[in-house]
Amino acid sequence: MNASPPPSTAEPGHWDQRYRQGTDAWELGRPAPPLEAFLRTHPLAPRPPGRVLVPGCGRGHEAALLEALGFVAIGLDFSGEALAEARSLHGPDRAGLRWLQADLFDQQALEAAGLAAGSLTGIVEHTCFCAIDPERREDYIATVSRLLVPGGWLLGLFWCHRNPGGPPWGSDPEAVEAQLSGAGLVPAVWEPATGSLDRRPDEWLGLWRRPLHPVPGHHG
Ligand SMILES: C[S@@+](CC[C@H](N)C(=O)[O-])C[C@H]1O[C@@H](n2cnc3c(N)ncnc32)[C@H](O)[C@@H]1O
Repeated sequence: MNASPPPSTAEPGHWDQRYRQGTDAWELGRPAPPLEAFLRTHPLAPRPPGRVLVPGCGRGHEAALLEALGFVAIGLDFSGEALAEARSLHGPDRAGLRWLQADLFDQQALEAAGLAAGSLTGIVEHTCFCAIDPERREDYIATVSRLLVPGGWLLGLFWCHRNPGGPPWGSDPEAVEAQLSGAGLVPAVWEPATGSLDRRPDEWLGLWRRPLHPVPGHHG
């Protein structure tokens, strides 16, 4: 009998299995230190109020942090296992925190859940970008910039390692910068992260904004 092929990383089944098997080596058990330090102390850190999405939120540590800081946070993941763990760690849906099971690339599902174009003040990226096949990065960036209100922000910790294969797929900081700028986002911060864990060298931290007024030549 032929065993069925393992689910691809573009399917929730792959991630469900990893959470169930405990092969979730990305898990930090807390918000990523460079993101937490930036949000708590950096002079350019976005301040509440605001509605902020964490795509591929996993166990939800960044979403819970955003709620604690005063934002209305939405932790989105297409893995039911991830969200079950997020709920058990951080509690059920409430005014300041909501868990949403959906594929980030399913525009209809996002709209049905109230995530229409321009509906978000901010997005916090942590190891979702590197979990998505590099061929879909343009889609990821287009989705993020579509969801942000003009003036909205993307705060991201990007793992710019050079190892072959993935996930986590590596990146080149210059390529990430070119892709985000190409979608019309403007950097306020883009630099090697400080305070990364030893096992996560090569992280870059960025704060990008969607301009208040369209930039000529951009359709994003
Ligand atoms: C490497 S894990 C990181 C989880 C969490 N951000 C963390 O750092 O602990 C990537 C997460 O992204 C989720 N994911 C991957 N592709 C997705 C997609 N297209 N839509 C929604 N979630 C996705 C996976 O289910 C997984 O929970």
